[in-house]
Amino acid sequence: ERQEKEALILVNEFAQQWFADQLYNTDEGKSIALSYFKSRGFRREVMDKFGLGYAPNARNGLLKAAVAAGYKEEQLDKLGLTRNKKDFFWDRVMFTIHNLSGKPIAFAGRILKKDVKAPKYVNSPESEIYYKSEVLYGLHQARQSVRKLDNVYMVEGYTDVISLHQNGIENVVATSGTSLTPGQARLVKRQTENVTLLYDGDKAGIKAALRGVDVLLLEGLNVRVVILPDGEDPDSYMQQVGTTAFQEFLEKKRRDFLFFKADLLLEEAGDDVAARSDAIRSSIATLALVEDPLKRAGYLQQFTGRLGLEESLLVNLVNQAIADRR
Ligand code: GTP
Ligand code: MN
Ligand code: MN
Ligand code: MN
Ligand code: MN
Repeated sequence: ERQEKEALILVNEFAQQWFADQLYNTDEGKSIALSYFKSRGFRREVMDKFGLGYAPNARNGLLKAAVAAGYKEEQLDKLGLTRNKKDFFWDRVMFTIHNLSGKPIAFAGRILKKDVKAPKYVNSPESEIYYKSEVLYGLHQARQSVRKLDNVYMVEGYTDVISLHQNGIENVVATSGTSLTPGQARLVKRQTENVTLLYDGDKAGIKAALRGVDVLLLEGLNVRVVILPDGEDPDSYMQQVGTTAFQEFLEKKRRDFLFFKADLLLEEAGDDVAARSDAIRSSIATLALVEDPLKRAGYLQQFTGRLGLEESLLVNLVNQAIADRR
């Protein structure tokens, strides 16, 4: 079984090489895909580091090349690289998904045309070597920086990871489309206890951040959130303002999970008393996920000050929320 996994990784290594070869060494790749990456500001060094590539507009190039090199069609099928004697990825720029030790375990392909019908990204299906709920995109490349800075930024997209990395913020990982899972939270916890959510500045991003907060708190992590300006994602905002202003933005806008959530819900509630009560109760329910009593008390103290409510009232609500969870 271990041998089987290693064999599958070898197949993916071949595929990654092949996608890279198509990108850099074919006319089609250069004119369509390399120019696309360049237009997004990606430099060669970072493209190599993240294993970017190109799947050409044909349906059996990879299959043919892999079989000629001695790999089995059955293995390609298992990895989702082929299906019914055809390449699964075609006419897309390719992103390699690595495991923690830097081995390619899956791929994602982004569409180039602005064709609304096809999905923007397609991903490898799960396989013996790829359980998507247990993988964080970019963790291998981020690891050293995460440990050094004792903090990780969690973003939504592959291109966000690459763009920030290229611009000097290397402690970045992505959940890649799926919402954040407990397994992913445990995975980061082995590198750092401090997570900063940096999702897209749109409704979906904010909703995903609200969900992400609870998942991370349940695993005992310290959670902060940065909300990007409306309509921006980490990549677009970095391209717009540059590293220095981006860093300053992060410092200035970073908030603890509790104030992110409470401010957001209270703002929605306006001055409607019933809606404000719901907002406070919901924020308290999230606070109650914090296991460490000292941290919980610290957040609560700040919260009480901000709300101008009796501390004893909020303490009771927190204790009630904790009791309800059990
Ligand atoms: P760019 O448009 O290339 O900058 O990518 P993005 O990362 O900004 O895309 P977006 O904000 O739309 O989506 C965030 C992430 O969600 C992507 O990086 C993907 O991992 C995932 N995602 C987006 N669209 C799709 C899709 O159609 N299918 C799947 N499976 N995942 C998607
Ligand atoms: Mn993105
Ligand atoms: Mn988005
Ligand atoms: Mn983007
Ligand atoms: Mn985005």
